[in-house]
Amino acid sequence: MRTEGDSWDINTSVGSTAMFVAAARALAGRRPGALAVDPLAEVFVRAGGGEWAALLDGELSGHPLSQPGFGQDFQQHQLARTKYFDDYFRAATAAGLRQVVILAAGLDARAYRLSWPDGTVLFELDRPQVLEFKRETLSAHGDKPRIDRREVPVDLRADWPTALRAHGFDPATPTAWLAEGLLIYLTADAQDRLFETIDSLSASGSWAAVEQLDQLPAEAVAAMTEHSDNNAGAEWFSLIYNDPRTDTAEWFAAHGWTADRIGLRDYLRAHGQPESSVDPNEGPSGLTSLVTAVRP
Ligand SMILES: C[S@@+](CC[C@H](N)C(=O)[O-])C[C@H]1O[C@@H](n2cnc3c(N)ncnc32)[C@H](O)[C@@H]1O
Repeated sequence: MRTEGDSWDINTSVGSTAMFVAAARALAGRRPGALAVDPLAEVFVRAGGGEWAALLDGELSGHPLSQPGFGQDFQQHQLARTKYFDDYFRAATAAGLRQVVILAAGLDARAYRLSWPDGTVLFELDRPQVLEFKRETLSAHGDKPRIDRREVPVDLRADWPTALRAHGFDPATPTAWLAEGLLIYLTADAQDRLFETIDSLSASGSWAAVEQLDQLPAEAVAAMTEHSDNNAGAEWFSLIYNDPRTDTAEWFAAHGWTADRIGLRDYLRAHGQPESSVDPNEGPSGLTSLVTAVRP
């Protein structure tokens, strides 16, 4: 169960979800015709210790990511969002944006693997131990950021704008924001505060990209918590806030931004990917949308 001021590192609680999605990206990127490839995901997973390397080597058949239903569906989910948000940053920088903020960056390695125009500054916000694991792992592997990357160790439920400004963020400069895999780990109220803060720090011309997971219906909760071999679904469910919450695209539209939303499965279909075998109401991918908003 979550509590108000709870904390974690890369192997515990919410921090471990960063490793889980990195593992899904590593496995998914091996598929022929993969929509997106994140070669650094495997570097993190191998550095993660425990059973992570065995999962990548196909030796953990009971792991949720190895399951033909949920595992395949979740891998496709990660590929879709990786491509969608990679393309988002390419478009945002092509439109002239030079200030980037990745909220709950986890093991997002875009600072290390995408090309960025000279002069772009990228702020990564997450818990200190998560950012530290990322920096140390990639440094030991010989990877360097391809952008002016600034770590901002914070709790996104607390006063993070002060820390962001202290690291050189300029609210008068248009920003490209990203919240991928974050909202469900915040309460509905904390999500509203996050959106209000993004809005208050966004100069005209700013962009925001958000992954939204709708509230899981009872059948999805049952599928998650009961059908899992090793209880990983129940463990994940204990980390999220499955409460009704503000619709992202509607919130941004109501605050004067133009917002575009696409269902994740529609996005996969539009990119010629195979249909999922998981009921759309029983797994996160069927309940996920990808949203991009632009402030005129
Ligand atoms: C599922 S991971 C997603 C990471 C990354 N965005 C990605 O898609 O690979 C969730 C991340 O949210 C971070 N996170 C969740 N709640 C947070 C909070 N209150 N403050 C800072 N980071 C938070 C966790 O530490 C973790 O890295």
